[in-house]
Amino acid sequence: MTDKLIIFDTTLRDGEQSPGASMTRDEKLRIARQLERLKVDVIEAGFAASSNGDFEAVKAIANAIRDTSICSLSRANDRDIARAAEALSGAARPRIHTFIATSALHMEKKLRMTPEQVLEQAKLSVRFARNLVADVEFSPEDGYRSDVDYLCRVLEAVIREGATTINVPDTVGYAVPELYGNFIKTLRERVPNSDKAIWSVHCHNDLGMAVANSLAGVKIGGARQVECTINGLGERAGNCSLEEIVMAVKTRKDYFNLEMNIDPLHIVAASRMVSQTTGFVVQPNKAVVGANAFAHASGIHQDGMLKARETYEIMRAEDVGWSASKIVLGKLSGRNAFKQRLQDLGVQLESEADVNSAFARFKELADRKSEIFDEDILALVSDESVAHENEQFSFVSLSQHSETGERPQAKVIFRVADIEVSSESDGNGPVDASLKAIEKHVRSGAEMVLYSVNAISGSTESQGEVTVRLQNSGRVVNGVGSDPDIVVASAKAYLSALNKLQSKADRVPAQG
Ligand code: KIV
Ligand code: ZN
Repeated sequence: MTDKLIIFDTTLRDGEQSPGASMTRDEKLRIARQLERLKVDVIEAGFAASSNGDFEAVKAIANAIRDTSICSLSRANDRDIARAAEALSGAARPRIHTFIATSALHMEKKLRMTPEQVLEQAKLSVRFARNLVADVEFSPEDGYRSDVDYLCRVLEAVIREGATTINVPDTVGYAVPELYGNFIKTLRERVPNSDKAIWSVHCHNDLGMAVANSLAGVKIGGARQVECTINGLGERAGNCSLEEIVMAVKTRKDYFNLEMNIDPLHIVAASRMVSQTTGFVVQPNKAVVGANAFAHASGIHQDGMLKARETYEIMRAEDVGWSASKIVLGKLSGRNAFKQRLQDLGVQLESEADVNSAFARFKELADRKSEIFDEDILALVSDESVAHENEQFSFVSLSQHSETGERPQAKVIFRVADIEVSSESDGNGPVDASLKAIEKHVRSGAEMVLYSVNAISGSTESQGEVTVRLQNSGRVVNGVGSDPDIVVASAKAYLSALNKLQSKADRVPAQG
């Protein structure tokens, strides 16, 4: 008999905890729709009690998605749990995921609670959650570093209270595969009612072993749910990467012998969407979704590939959605063709007005760039959602002058609220001059902690996609901008980051 492996995606919750990756309600909704297309089993949409913004995002996703379970994280207290249930009230299949730390270190230093108090709190919380929804997941935070005897007592108790999934996090990414796999196995063997719950793995990537540890938890430990994120997005070194887990289990079905619901054809589009929304660029040699993942550069490999592709290829690029990347539209393409392409790419804009505005931007781009790729369209609609928030700042135009031996000058025109302003500056290069011109007027005082440029579709004819990460008063945000002119893309990215700094999305940290 082949078991089923449940794929639980936490891009919108744990992934969003990466510095600067916080997303707006509309951005989260768009990604949730892509996750539904990918057929993940559970979407952890956020942490409803952490902020009003996150509450609204969980609620919007719960109301819009019908085919996937929607989950909200909540700390182990009645207020958080009630808030999660409220946000999930419109969901077809709501799940509450409640957690409390169980390692001696976390209980003593962070929670300042005794083990008996934590045990009691865990029981009460699961009981309370089960009165609100039928599907309740419990996580002992820092579970892997917890005392195994104590952890068995906690897990037995919460299963008795009705927890339907038990998730065992390696919160700090300390595990190694064999030990983590055996840890899950031991828990399942020693907890008397372990067969009443589905066991789940949740691994962080601090030592680069999140995927290997999760697979060991499945193979050795018998876990049947994996928690993961698109592109491995997440705090510090990130979470277990969805695309790697899925393709490992699929490609090595001979070894894992597990079924999944996932439709891998949508993996690459999901990866691009998450990267363009958060500004976290995917490294070229990243497994499955990196630009080089299926490129065979060496002569020997190319020769082998031409004779028989199986010589060097263990999975097919087109099976994870790479072949969708082709020249799709040009200057003469009409609104219907554009709309159809958006649909094929899985992008659902909220209204006809949004489609019109995206189409106008597409025409503008097609005037400057003869071949429009899928990547260009995804970047364009990504920009569209940023523009749509219509916060404080928006780009109008830019001119700059640079010449060898001379200090570059830039003039940027942008809107602050509805007022058009013009600002000029010099700088070390045209990008520096442009961003200094904006800052000269805005005076945000923010520190730039990251600037990166990426060619969206490979060549110098492609659009540049720029990420700017700003830090101010303890907040970190990423702004993303794209344009065939990288100086313009940089100015857009800077304005987008300033917009995010302006929004007052302060939230309670999940592990706080
Ligand atoms: O890593 C972790 O411990 C978590 C829990 C909140 C599940 O993300
Ligand atoms: Zn986590």
